[in-house]
Amino acid sequence: MTVPVDLMRVRHQRLQTRLTEAGVQAALITSRSNVTYLTGFDGSAGVVIVEADALHLLSDSRYAEEVHALDRAGLGVCGHVAPAGTGLEATVAARLQSLGALTVGYEPAALTVAQFDDLRTRTGGPSSALRWVALDAPVEALRERKDAWELATIREAGRRLSTIARGILTAPLAGRSERAVAALVEAELRRQGFDKPAFDTIVASGPNGARPHHRAGDRTLAEGDLVVVDFGGMYRGYAVDMTRTLQLGETTPRQREVWTAVLKAQQAAFSALQPGVAADAVDAEARRVLAEAGVAEFFSHGLGHGLGLEVHEAPRLGPRRGGAAGAPLEARMVFTLEPGVYIPGWGGVRIEDDVVMTPSGPEWLTEPMVEG
Ligand code: GLY
Ligand code: MN
Ligand code: MN
Repeated sequence: MTVPVDLMRVRHQRLQTRLTEAGVQAALITSRSNVTYLTGFDGSAGVVIVEADALHLLSDSRYAEEVHALDRAGLGVCGHVAPAGTGLEATVAARLQSLGALTVGYEPAALTVAQFDDLRTRTGGPSSALRWVALDAPVEALRERKDAWELATIREAGRRLSTIARGILTAPLAGRSERAVAALVEAELRRQGFDKPAFDTIVASGPNGARPHHRAGDRTLAEGDLVVVDFGGMYRGYAVDMTRTLQLGETTPRQREVWTAVLKAQQAAFSALQPGVAADAVDAEARRVLAEAGVAEFFSHGLGHGLGLEVHEAPRLGPRRGGAAGAPLEARMVFTLEPGVYIPGWGGVRIEDDVVMTPSGPEWLTEPMVEG
């Protein structure tokens, strides 16, 4: 990924403002996606230390070339490489200790208890001058609203994924196993320029469709099946995610009825979108349509999720939790709309597309279904 220099520096400034508001003078960023967001580095060993006036990327000697290139790129990232034979942990601890008496924020969701204990021991234990404060996901909050470069990348990814979806809808798939269909889809992802699948492709045929996250197995697709195909790709580091439910050959009126109800639920959710709308209200709209069709009890997951450097990230679109209204869906947020109906012993239907909220309303990022 090559994030433009000015946009990268805006990310840093926004984070530094949030850290000041949180009362910390430095932050240790260990979430891999957050390290990528702040530096462009996507290696397996990378830690960021954000200070008031600088941002440091620390890695180990396997990534020396990448770190030095980022250091020279003018992104506002200072690169450090742990010398061969010295662990990254020791290099991180030494940098933190050099800061003196500071309040340091850490990411509780991205540091194991063992890693945290080790770090505290290395930085002087209970008598250390460092004071640790758990951060409340400040980088994830920034990532919720995509910048112009991210939106352009995700739009292109959505176009490419839609091409694959069109191919799936017209391919002769009866007689192939779920596993073979998943392999075909994943080969198409590569052909369309994706870095890799965003998750193991789901192909759930016939009764297997009742399991929202069925793993593609040995069942052979047959005429008369509904087949849920859920596939996603990482494109220049960003995830897009679609589901199509195929009706193979002659389907029954009931299968067509459920399929149409799910499509109408997705369309109703899209129509309910406007900047600032509560995510739970949009979920409720999809549930209302499925209730009219008598199948709402079989919609067993939330309506959607944010997309970005991860395939599941904020915002969450789902029913209210504990009575609290859902977060508002704001401009520049990117998320899925994926209503589904899963009937044990019968099968399932899910239709999933990706959307960006703009200041004037929602836009599809993938090409939505219009009819059966
Ligand atoms: N494939 C996972 C999802 O749609 O969320
Ligand atoms: Mn999804
Ligand atoms: Mn999906």
